[in-house]
Amino acid sequence: MTSASAPGKIILCGEHAVVYDQPAIAIPVTQVRATARIEAAPDGSGLIIDAQDINRRVEVSRAGAKEPLAAAARVVLGRVGAPIPDATITLTSSIPVASGLGSGAAVSTAIIRALALFLGHDLQSDQISQLVYEVEKLHHGTPSGIDNTVIAHERPVYFVRGRPLETFRIGAPLRFLVADSGLHSSTREMVAGVRAAWQAEPARLERIFDVVGILVREARRAIETGAAQTLGELMNENHALLVQMGVSSPALERLTDSARRAGALGAKLSGAGGGGNVIALVEEENAEDVERALNATGAHRVILTTAREDAHATQE
Ligand code: PMV
Repeated sequence: MTSASAPGKIILCGEHAVVYDQPAIAIPVTQVRATARIEAAPDGSGLIIDAQDINRRVEVSRAGAKEPLAAAARVVLGRVGAPIPDATITLTSSIPVASGLGSGAAVSTAIIRALALFLGHDLQSDQISQLVYEVEKLHHGTPSGIDNTVIAHERPVYFVRGRPLETFRIGAPLRFLVADSGLHSSTREMVAGVRAAWQAEPARLERIFDVVGILVREARRAIETGAAQTLGELMNENHALLVQMGVSSPALERLTDSARRAGALGAKLSGAGGGGNVIALVEEENAEDVERALNATGAHRVILTTAREDAHATQE
């Protein structure tokens, strides 16, 4: 039995503008994970992917070209030049789907890493990241590549589209509450909405993207120097710019307002918007108050994750 797993992720700042070549910052969320276990099967069984949590069973040789689980397996076979093996991949995941935690990229990462290992190839994280990106393109159209990068490397990243991995120092531990609005949203549709706005009013949107880029660079400095207060303010400003891009929603506004009123240093939507998650930067002393406020405002689930210097976000 060979297995591999991958974490969820949150985007701290820079989403959407990152599609237009601005930088963005993301961290892994390691207490939710997707895991793929692979076992040899009798001759002639083919490759089966059994995704128990979503009640899906995919036979790779028969699945359509856009079926994402089969696509993850196919990119590995193409990369290592192997025929479809006789094996069963069992997939489990605790990452909520369509909520901005990167479940699709994490599932692809786990399948790709496990299948490559099973075939005798211990691929490097950047090779895995590139293969995951191939799969992401099938369901997101024009993804920036931030999800596959932060998840395959499992490290905080300062990401600029098309550039190699860049990590950074975390000057002091940062606590984030990740609150799920319970509303699903389609990244592809949200990205298309911003594109339509940009096509209608290019100058206005480009000004917004430029300011986001400035904020993200300042946020990186704030993270490196442990300036949590400043980071919180930058998150609030980034959220206001996401509102101007048209990707917030009444539920996300209620959640970010309530987090700020309960004492969060900053709060913003995270990821594509519409639904999905908001994130709030909190201190040890007020984490519980903010969590209570988020729950009282209708959050479906709140996760506390800490970004710290050991490069991995750890759970508490
Ligand atoms: O919804 P998520 O967390 O997968 O984030 C999408 C991030 C965008 O910047 C909106 C799109 C992208 O490809 O970077």
